[in-house]
Amino acid sequence: MKQQLERIRSEALAALNAAADGQELEALRVRYLGKKGELTAVLKQMGKLSPEERPVMGQVANNVRAAIEETLEQAKTHLAAKAMEVRLQAEAVDVTIPGEAVALGHQHPMNMVLQEIKDIFVGMGYQVVDGPEVELASYNFTRLNIEEGHPSRDRSDTFYFTDDDSLLLRTQTSPMQIRFMENHKPPLCMLAPGRVFRKDEADATHSPMFHQIEGLVVDEGITMGDLKGALTTLMKRIYGEDSVMRFRPHHFPFTEPSCEMDMQCHKCQGTGEVDGQVCSTCHGEGWIELLGAGMVHPKVLENCGIDPEKYSGFAFGMGLERMAMGRLRINDLRLIFDNDVRFLNQF
Ligand code: DAH
Repeated sequence: MKQQLERIRSEALAALNAAADGQELEALRVRYLGKKGELTAVLKQMGKLSPEERPVMGQVANNVRAAIEETLEQAKTHLAAKAMEVRLQAEAVDVTIPGEAVALGHQHPMNMVLQEIKDIFVGMGYQVVDGPEVELASYNFTRLNIEEGHPSRDRSDTFYFTDDDSLLLRTQTSPMQIRFMENHKPPLCMLAPGRVFRKDEADATHSPMFHQIEGLVVDEGITMGDLKGALTTLMKRIYGEDSVMRFRPHHFPFTEPSCEMDMQCHKCQGTGEVDGQVCSTCHGEGWIELLGAGMVHPKVLENCGIDPEKYSGFAFGMGLERMAMGRLRINDLRLIFDNDVRFLNQF
């Protein structure tokens, strides 16, 4: 019997140590320690032993059982650790691999320049306002002192909605002057950026839709000096302290007197020539036209219920595309509207 027990011990221990997984271990446990297991079968024969032999064999049997149980526990622990190791290997994440970069966009160059311009005017106390793109002819033209028959009212220039030409896509942001003065009493300072529409063919410098920024200041004692101060401040902030401006007389129906402001060409320094060739940026003019401006016409003030004897004001209107092209050195207007990322990524 002793030999039988020793054989079971050595077989069981060898089998347990060689087991590949938990299932196999469980089968071995049943095979050796289970109710119908090999060890139990041997123990059942204890009755046949002599009373002297019985406790001796009982001791041996207990030792064998203890050895098998201990080895079983060890094998379980060992297999569990091995399984964990395999899982860790399989699910390993290399935290040192660089992450995948998410491509972030940025503001459109036009919005960048618009934001700069807005910031400058807000800093000077202007209120930024928005208004309708579908406009009444009375706001877009009539109340701005642009009379019937004026060439800018022509059907070949303006997108009209109605046969009586009373409703249109605004051709300028100037109607915002009227809208603002209707609802605000002087002193007032407003800036109105927005889209405007004209029947222009698209080429390098024209688009049927473009953006303007309108400005208006009305108070007692406002002069042309205030106008020059505000616009010179804007230009020096946008184009640099050393940029050179000039104001040139012009005509607009809604301002009197009126002027245009030009910037000295940055490419040819105002000479109109680069390396003996006509400067391509200013076409040899030496100056680049930037905006229209003037003192608000007394009739326009009157049209909005403001007494021109008491109050005066200045107004200006600039093309945002033109400002952006100058600011960012863009030479073709269409690039701004194409939204080609190869272009946009440059800013
Ligand atoms: N609205 C004019 C245009 O589209 C620009 C302009 C000129 C606006 C003079 C003004 C101004 O406010 O005073 O050509």
